[in-house]
Amino acid sequence: MEHHKHSDVLIIGAGISGLMAATKLQESGISVTVLDKGRHYGGRMATRAFDGAIFDHGAQFFTVRDHRFQVAVESAVAAGFVTQWKPNMGTFQDHQPIASPDHQARFVGHPYMNSLGRFLSQDIEIQTESRVQMVEPNGDLFRLILTSQETLTADCVLVTAPVDQMVAMLQHFDVEQLGSRFAMDPTWTTVLSVEEPLRGSAGESFDALFGGDHPLFDFIAVENSKPGRQSNFIVVHATPEWSTKHLESDPAEISELIREAFSETFQVTTQARLSHRWRYARPTNPKVTAQKGIYQVSPNLWVAGDYLAGGRVEGAYLSGLEAAEHILAR
Ligand code: NAI
Repeated sequence: MEHHKHSDVLIIGAGISGLMAATKLQESGISVTVLDKGRHYGGRMATRAFDGAIFDHGAQFFTVRDHRFQVAVESAVAAGFVTQWKPNMGTFQDHQPIASPDHQARFVGHPYMNSLGRFLSQDIEIQTESRVQMVEPNGDLFRLILTSQETLTADCVLVTAPVDQMVAMLQHFDVEQLGSRFAMDPTWTTVLSVEEPLRGSAGESFDALFGGDHPLFDFIAVENSKPGRQSNFIVVHATPEWSTKHLESDPAEISELIREAFSETFQVTTQARLSHRWRYARPTNPKVTAQKGIYQVSPNLWVAGDYLAGGRVEGAYLSGLEAAEHILAR
């Protein structure tokens, strides 16, 4: 008989949900393997190196509302993996940047965004560059076929990939209704280098801006306003509408469109460094959530992810935690 690598639980996706679930299960003595198609883990809590600079091009910050996440963030802060970010906030009104101060506590990974993933994965077995093509029922077990043709088996499977990818790999199961209920939108991200401070018409300076009523800008962050970051990079996230409209455009074309809009808005000279398309960035309707932020497909097959739980980093964390608790309860 052919011998396959077997785990108690296989988790697909090494973003915050998958890593959190893995940590919780492993603490309870369950053998867990996490698979991710990418070269890195941490999902959209992503950090990239380019031209000698290191910066966050995925999630820009996160907030805390739930007590369970608060406890985790406090221990990540104490261990040096997360820190508070206190930007001079702005927003857009009539397409113009204006000051918009508030008292919301916002956090970032330290020294970079991927540190929260590192904090959650310190003793976890993560197999990167492993793209799951299909999950098949196999008696009481599951068999996972990777695009490399490698095969893995498990007693239990947790899928934390974005919804479209989840539906594609679970074709042997009944998940169509999840696919139609939980769509995800893209986010085009452009990284610019800017030498001057960002100012509004009243002379106020900005570290970050929400998009407000702007048709293109959804969030703008000045990287070196976050603790520990050195680069002169500014990360611009486009709105879901704009990103969807330009979904298939060339990254070079996106860079030029965003650079032009940015330098016109802030009257600064900018250079576009790169553009990245997050194909599955955020739930189309974050208010639609699954019960407890998770979904049980069959007794030992579970689905988790931020898109089932409001679309925030905290949702990803809690969804992973809930999934692990349900798996343990069986
Ligand atoms: P939060 O509590 O700081 O902000 C929530 C929302 O309130 C913001 O989207 C913004 O519209 C508004 N807001 C808050 N403070 C504001 C201020 N000072 N001035 C003007 N408007 C303000 O953040 P929360 O709830 O933790 O959400 C995370 C953020 O990440 C949200 O903005 C969300 O839309 C965004 N997000 C972006 C994704 C992307 O792909 N670009 C994916 C997932 C979330």
